[in-house]
Amino acid sequence: MKSIIDSHAHLTWDTFGQDQAAVIERAFKEGVVQIVQAGVDLQSIPEMIKVSDQYESIYFGVGIHPHEAKFWSQEAESALKAAAGHPKMVAVGECGLDYYYNHSDRQAQQAAFRAQVRLARTLGKPLIIHTRDAWEETFEILDEEKAFEVGGVFHCFTGGPEVVARIKALDFYVSFSGIVTFKNAKPIQEAAPLFADDRILVETDCPYLAPLPHRGKRNEPSYVWFVAQKLADLRAVELASLAAQTAENTRRLFRLPAPDGP
Ligand code: NI
Repeated sequence: MKSIIDSHAHLTWDTFGQDQAAVIERAFKEGVVQIVQAGVDLQSIPEMIKVSDQYESIYFGVGIHPHEAKFWSQEAESALKAAAGHPKMVAVGECGLDYYYNHSDRQAQQAAFRAQVRLARTLGKPLIIHTRDAWEETFEILDEEKAFEVGGVFHCFTGGPEVVARIKALDFYVSFSGIVTFKNAKPIQEAAPLFADDRILVETDCPYLAPLPHRGKRNEPSYVWFVAQKLADLRAVELASLAAQTAENTRRLFRLPAPDGP
């Protein structure tokens, strides 16, 4: 039986409002044995908890996305801490810097990001990092705030070969999304074979970024197989071994139990 993990999904967003259960069932049927929901704001936390309570194999992280960084506050931090009491909360994030959209100003993004790296260290949880057009500052903050103590993953990897050494020095994981299947993703495709076998993950980041051949449509966890196939091709390995390796890595990073275990 083929099996794989979607290491980053947003299952509670409005687009899944009508058929969330069907989407999740389809993922299970396609061998997606575990799913990690990524947090972006405070509002979605109760919904993510509801889904994780309902399905044994679905976990969640909590964090404030860089787009939402202007809403960072003492209260926000307390709310994230409170959610961390849940047994299926496995990570802090997604958090980081997005200098492409700049939906929050850069100072606010940096402050919220630093605070969340500290929070991850306080909680002893790994980080889910979102970074776009901000590699240098992202590395700086991770270094200064000692993120190596908890580790983490650069989700939806959009870098090229030039950032591989820095990521290896940090000993972080990288997660590939549907973007790696796109024809204009040359730098990402060139970087893909350069990471160690035990540091790569796959994700959908659904509902966005559907991989080919579904590009432009609503994305869902079952499509993680298209990401895995492309990554397997780029790394010249079999799909089944890529799926098993990335699943093992995701479990190690987020300390998930084996899917059939207790
Ligand atoms: Ni995301």
